[in-house]
Order: sequence, then structure tokens, then C-alpha cells
Amino acid sequence: MYKQIQPQAAGTLGSCVLVLIFYPESGEGADHETPCIFIFHLNTEEIMLFTPPLKSRSMKIMLLGSGELGKEVVIEAARLGLETVAVDSYPHAPAHLVANRSHVIDMKNKEALLDLIRREKPAFILPEIEALSIEALEDAEKEGFHVIPNAEAVRKTMNRKNIREFAEKELGLKTSAYRFVKTHGELKAAAGELGLPCVVKPVMSSSGHGQSVIRCEADVARAWEHAKEARGDASELIVEAFVDFDYEITLLTARTEKETVFCEPIGHIQEDGDYVLSWQPMDMPEAVLRKAQAMAKTITEGLGGRGIFGVEFFVSKDEVYFSEVSPRPHDTGMVTLITQSQSEFALHVRAVLGLPLDFVFYGPGASAAFKSSEKASLPMLEVPDTAFSQNAFIRIFGKPVSHVGRRMAVALVFDAVEAARKKARDIVASIRG
Ligand SMILES: Nc1ncnc2c1ncn2[C@@H]1O[C@H](COP(=O)(O)OP(=O)(O)O)[C@@H](O)[C@H]1O
Ligand SMILES: [Mg+2]
Repeated sequence: MYKQIQPQAAGTLGSCVLVLIFYPESGEGADHETPCIFIFHLNTEEIMLFTPPLKSRSMKIMLLGSGELGKEVVIEAARLGLETVAVDSYPHAPAHLVANRSHVIDMKNKEALLDLIRREKPAFILPEIEALSIEALEDAEKEGFHVIPNAEAVRKTMNRKNIREFAEKELGLKTSAYRFVKTHGELKAAAGELGLPCVVKPVMSSSGHGQSVIRCEADVARAWEHAKEARGDASELIVEAFVDFDYEITLLTARTEKETVFCEPIGHIQEDGDYVLSWQPMDMPEAVLRKAQAMAKTITEGLGGRGIFGVEFFVSKDEVYFSEVSPRPHDTGMVTLITQSQSEFALHVRAVLGLPLDFVFYGPGASAAFKSSEKASLPMLEVPDTAFSQNAFIRIFGKPVSHVGRRMAVALVFDAVEAARKKARDIVASIRG
């Protein structure tokens, strides 16, 4: 008799319970059943059953979005023997290159996405981008699929209006003052009410697309046009009072039903709405960090589910403002590839599986993004050997084409923060491509 135990079912076993499960190959013509998996247990420890990939009962994860962050998630999942399926809108995306299977579909198309989910039957669906059909995820969840962290959290976080109102109104988190507008006239009025400067963003957008700062009245029309041109649904905009912060951080927060853990705070610098440099830990007063952690706990508990969250805050003296949250690994968190025994990607996979989230912070480090300076159908990066040294290395994403400003690689340095930041920037400056 065969019994497939999904990880969410592998709960606490009562004392002296013996569990023996095996799937014998039945000789020639065996139908690729998962081979023997064992486990017997005593006491109250929890167990997890691991299966090899590409068997009929393999534990499978499906990534919706296959960029550089998804690529690292796939690698971490593969390290635990999971079967990986990577989905994106174009072929040979970074995670496609390392997954067991890849698919190219329009994830905004509900039927196409739902159809693929039903065919692949993943144990876990990991959205890595925001431009997808949330209705497909909601339907999949109703059908019993496990969306990470859950479809409602994905719905809330993909729209700045939903997450801002949830955080500020429902959970009482401090944020910048804000308004939502749909017309040029409303934008002008909101800028007047909030005062200048203020920041304008389409409610459905990411990576700085359509985002701009209004510094004087003449900027209003430009900000309106800029937001309209951006990808995503620019029909509604959020206007936020500008927070003149001393620094901003990402607080990576991993959670399961059993525990919540925080990584050391990550400081970062954004240019044109995109991260260029991040470092860990951000040197900040303990009391301020505790405040940010409490807010991160509140928002991640509010969203619920399993996985890692990148919670973004602005800090001005001892005031902490919640900015936004992504229910997935964060680009500024790539620094954890060199600073932690378990990177944010490994922690994500662990959280998804409901495994313990303990890890060691090895020490300070920095990451810097390399962005292409050219459009190329065969991108070539010229990297000097100095990019690979005792305390530094780069990771190349393998994107099939480049365009100006596209992130193609990341430099990672393990050193005291100041030195690490400088070296990471120097490495990036030394790359041509
Ligand atoms: N209200 C604000 N005040 C000051 N800076 C802001 C504000 N909103 C955004 N920014 C700056 O713009 C960056 C990107 O904004 P964010 O809301 O995080 O958009 P995205 O989803 O594109 O990351 C932030 O990391 C911060 O540096
Ligand atoms: Mg952000």
C-alpha cells in the first residue's frame, strides 16, 4: 500500500510512533514510482519525507517567474532533491536554466496558468513576480494547491493600494501619508494636500516603473505621464509624502506556522527605483531594529502562510515607516548568498517545506548589481579575474539577451561593511558588457 505524505501532513508524531513507508520498484517495467522512503520515529520530533525528483510521486515546486531570484530558489530546492518547474514569459530565463522543467506561458492569462498548474500538479506554487493572474492562483488554492504564502497575501501585495491600506488601516503600522488618485486633477490635489516633495507610483508596478518624485508644481504633469507610460495597470496611482529617511532597510523575515526568524537588517541604495548596492548588517540602534522587527512580525503574521518576506522600512532617527513587503525573496537580499549559512533562498525553501529556520549569520558583507550598458542578443560580460578572490565572487544570471540597465550579474563580498561595499562597487565597475 502506497501513501504519499505531503510535507504539510508531516506533523508531530506522537511518542513511539513508527512510520514505515516504502515504494518498491517492481522490477522491469516499474512505473517510476518513488523508491523506498523510510522513516520511523520516536518521541515528539517532526519528520519530513524527501523523495528524488522526476518520479511520479516526487515533491514538486513550481516557480511563477524565473528570474535571478527564482534561479537561486530552484538551486536550493534541488539541493533537497525537490523537483523543480520554472515558468516565465520568455524562454531560457535564469531559473529555466537550472530547473527540471521549464514552461513559457503568459502568466497573466488565467486559463493558461490554471491549465499548467493542473497539468504539473505541484505541491507548492511559488509566485516570484507580480504580473500574473491572481484569479488563477485563487482558483488553484480552492482546488487544493498550496500557494506560497497564500493567494490572498499575493493579491494584497501585488497592489500598493491593498497592502498600504491593510498595513496602515487594519494593522495600524506607521507609513508615510498617502492618497490614491485616478485623474490628473486628483493627482494635483493630492500633491497639494500631502505637500512637496511627494512620490507617485502606479498601484500595480515594481522596480521603480512609472515612479517619480514631484518636487514642484510643474512636475505634476510629468509625473502623471510617466506613471501612465509604465507597465502594469496605471489607472490608479498612489501618492506618498516623501520620507526624508536617514536610511532604508529590508528586513528579511522567514515564517512558518511554527516560527518567525529575522535576518540581520539589510541596508541598501536605490537608483531610479532599482537596487544598486546592499549590505548586511545595517548599523542601527537596537531599539529601532526591535521596532522594525515587531512591525515585520505584524505584517507577515497578517499575511500569513509560509515563506520568506522582504519587508521594507524607511528609518528617520528613531521613527520606523513601513514601506512595502514582498512575499518572496528580495533582490537586496542577494547579499545573504555570502553572509549567511542559509541564504534567503535556502530559508525560503525551508519555510515553504515547513522545516526549521535556524541558520548562522557568518558576518558582514555587501552585494552590488551589475547592469548592462548595452543591448545585445548575445550578451558577453568581460570580467577581470580580480572579481574572484578570497572574500568575493560574482554570480552571473545567464539572461539570454541584455538591454541597457538590465541586471545581469551580482558582485558579493564578505568583509566589514565599508570595505565590502567599496569592493562590491569596484568589482561591478570593472565588468564590461
Ligand atoms: N514615500 C517615499 N519617500 C521617500 N522615498 C521613497 C518613498 N517611496 C519610495 N521611495 C524610494 O523609492 C524606492 C522604491 O520604492 P518602492 O515603493 O519600494 O517601489 P518598488 O516596488 O519599485 O521597489 C524605495 O526603496 C525608496 O528608496
Ligand atoms: Mg521596494
